[in-house]
Amino acid sequence: MSIHKEVILKIENVSTVYEGERKPAIKDINLTVNVGELIYIVGPNGAGKTTLLETINGLLPYIKGRVFVFGMDLQKNGRKIRSRIGYVPQDFMVEPDEPFTALDVVLMGLYGKLGLIAKPTNNDVDKAYRVMKLLGIEDLAKRPIGKLSGGQQQKVMIARALAKEPEILLLDEPFSNLDPKSREMVISIIKNLNDHGLTTLIVTHDIKSIIENCRRIVIMMDGRIIADASMNEAKRIFEYSTFHTHVYL
Ligand SMILES: Nc1ncnc2c1ncn2[C@@H]1O[C@H](COP(=O)(O)OP(=O)(O)OP(=O)(O)O)[C@@H](O)[C@H]1O
Ligand SMILES: [Mg+2]
Repeated sequence: MSIHKEVILKIENVSTVYEGERKPAIKDINLTVNVGELIYIVGPNGAGKTTLLETINGLLPYIKGRVFVFGMDLQKNGRKIRSRIGYVPQDFMVEPDEPFTALDVVLMGLYGKLGLIAKPTNNDVDKAYRVMKLLGIEDLAKRPIGKLSGGQQQKVMIARALAKEPEILLLDEPFSNLDPKSREMVISIIKNLNDHGLTTLIVTHDIKSIIENCRRIVIMMDGRIIADASMNEAKRIFEYSTFHTHVYL
């Protein structure tokens, strides 16, 4: 009996070039992701990891190739697709005098579904509080986002992505500002969501934080995917590379 796996994301020969640049930041990328997979994306600075996530999320136009998410062509359905993806960006610049509260920011996660003019309902506010509670930041709800610490802001961004109840979760260095206890907490939340079927792609330099139920690691370098490996294969590649070239970690 063959087990039918449903494809949720398919990237075919995709290259992305930033405006004003000549060299593609990612080149001829091919990647197929099935529903419920948990995939880590690793590689040195400048490898193209963030560019890949932003391309998938429809934030960067690609010059070549095709991307299908939820069976839809990304080029034609960017907004619709984005409303079903939770994205935690690597760099979120927040001005110290930003007027939005942490709660406002979490509620913004819902606007893709609500539309810009719609006011959040009590139900939406309850949902936002529930996710903030899950991350242990409900006490920060009324504080202006710009007055929070880097780690607190990162948790707010994770809460914003989760409040959306996404079908794909894209996390770019989600642990970088977190203390060890918070990191454990976020890892266990992600693991739990993935156990319940949430397709998750995580970019990290922190190989130690790789969740044990991760079965697939994509290694990028110089804009290309150079390995799409199982956890054991990846471990061998890491050992080899740190021993011989110090290139990945
Ligand atoms: N806004 C931009 N304009 C022009 N080039 C860019 C821009 N952002 C990134 N690049 C280039 O694209 C390439 C890939 O960058 P990207 O940010 O995707 O790397 P990364 O793997 O996420 O690196 P890091 O580990 O440092 O986050 C790099 O060569 C980088 O210089
Ligand atoms: Mg990056």
